[in-house]
Amino acid sequence: MDADRNSPQENGGDSHLSDDEKCHHVAKKLKSSSPITEPEIRTEFSHHDPRVARINNGSFGSCPASVIAAQNLWQRLFLQQPDDFYFNRLKSSIFESRAVIKDLVNAEDVSDISIVDNATTAAAIVLQQIGWAFSEGRFQKGDAVVMLHYAYGAVKKSIQAYVARAGGFVIEVELPFPVQSDEQIVLEFRKALDKGKSNGRKVRLAVIDHITSMPTVLIPVKELTRICREEGVDQVFVDAAHAIGNVDIDVKEIGADFYTSNLHKWFFCPPSVAFLYCKKSSSLADLHHPVVSHEYGNGLAVESAWIGTRDYSAQLVVPSVIDFVNRFEGGIEGIRKRNHEEVVKMGEMLAESWGTPLGTPPEMCSSMIMVGLPASLGISSEKDTLKLRTHLRKKFEIEVPIYYQAPKDVENGMSKNNYVTGYARISHQVYNVVDDYHRFREAINQLIRDGFNCELLKDD
Ligand SMILES: Cc1ncc(COP(=O)(O)O)c(C=O)c1O
Repeated sequence: MDADRNSPQENGGDSHLSDDEKCHHVAKKLKSSSPITEPEIRTEFSHHDPRVARINNGSFGSCPASVIAAQNLWQRLFLQQPDDFYFNRLKSSIFESRAVIKDLVNAEDVSDISIVDNATTAAAIVLQQIGWAFSEGRFQKGDAVVMLHYAYGAVKKSIQAYVARAGGFVIEVELPFPVQSDEQIVLEFRKALDKGKSNGRKVRLAVIDHITSMPTVLIPVKELTRICREEGVDQVFVDAAHAIGNVDIDVKEIGADFYTSNLHKWFFCPPSVAFLYCKKSSSLADLHHPVVSHEYGNGLAVESAWIGTRDYSAQLVVPSVIDFVNRFEGGIEGIRKRNHEEVVKMGEMLAESWGTPLGTPPEMCSSMIMVGLPASLGISSEKDTLKLRTHLRKKFEIEVPIYYQAPKDVENGMSKNNYVTGYARISHQVYNVVDDYHRFREAINQLIRDGFNCELLKDD
């Protein structure tokens, strides 16, 4: 299908055209334009606060001006004639976005792809049917659900709410950090599955992150899914909130039952939009959107395409994002390859300056990497990481999340006194420049020169 067909773009020179005509006209013009230049990239992100070194794409993503313009146009199309938009435009346009996603992630069929608000919603959809299976007696109380210790906090809470409350036994896979190899992860994962199957219990679901959030680690998700199949785990749900636009995705090759990724993190969509892939053979599962509306019972993708009156524009700009990423050399693949290379380079530069380790080897990170912070900063709790992050924002205008790693007695030859207890998670996206990371390096070096310690920061 032609991804461009559905892309409305704002364009002053086309003012004689209706919004609908602009959709087709401008998309064609973009297709023939030459590769994006540095000044054009600056313009696309000129709405970012220019004072801030934003090395945290991971938390909230970013959206270029041309995609925001496309979104505004969709919003206007709806407001102009809502009835016509609802009856004649919305369903088919969401379908086009789903078709683009289907190709990007190599799904079998468009019907395997639903569009939802975010990964949190996708998790609720998957976990809700697991909860029903417990409460309706298809799963036995005490059957297990396995998840990574570093699963995203909100998803862990969702597991509590939907699964533990219904009688599921939750097992966390204790992952090492810093981590050196996939084998370490595989070993711990196997241990957790063994625990889940002990006492004759069954493992009903494994929740596996593709890229953990904090600390960020690229998880060997294909290998873990294969092990789940071998070990008879009923369902595999991959929480890949950070994946699309960040790492290669082939849902057929991964082989999980469910796979979700946000498009507003690394795929340049405005907040908020995510896809949820459901493998055909999993369609026996009782999947429904948690917000029930007119389409209840018509299949998850159709249910999700109308969950009541609201703004659906973020779901409609996917073809416009394709136009945007295709202006870069190598399209989205080129972007993610360069982001990965740059973040590794920047991480190594920071680690060398501070004399600290990286949290993972380069091949175990995406476009985000964990960089150890000097022990002398005195990071000794999660509260400290928040205080330091706020201090970096207020004093240095640097935005970067920080992770707390409790000290062990002696680790890697380091004594307790110089053990690295804080790691910064740095991101790289197309708008970043080397100076963003130099500013971070200098800010930490200045804090050290000033004899800074987290204890000096007041609680907010
Ligand atoms: C691994 C993981 N899962 C789920 C989420 C939730 O994403 P959202 O808040 O967009 O629903 C995040 C957000 O950072 C995440 O990192």
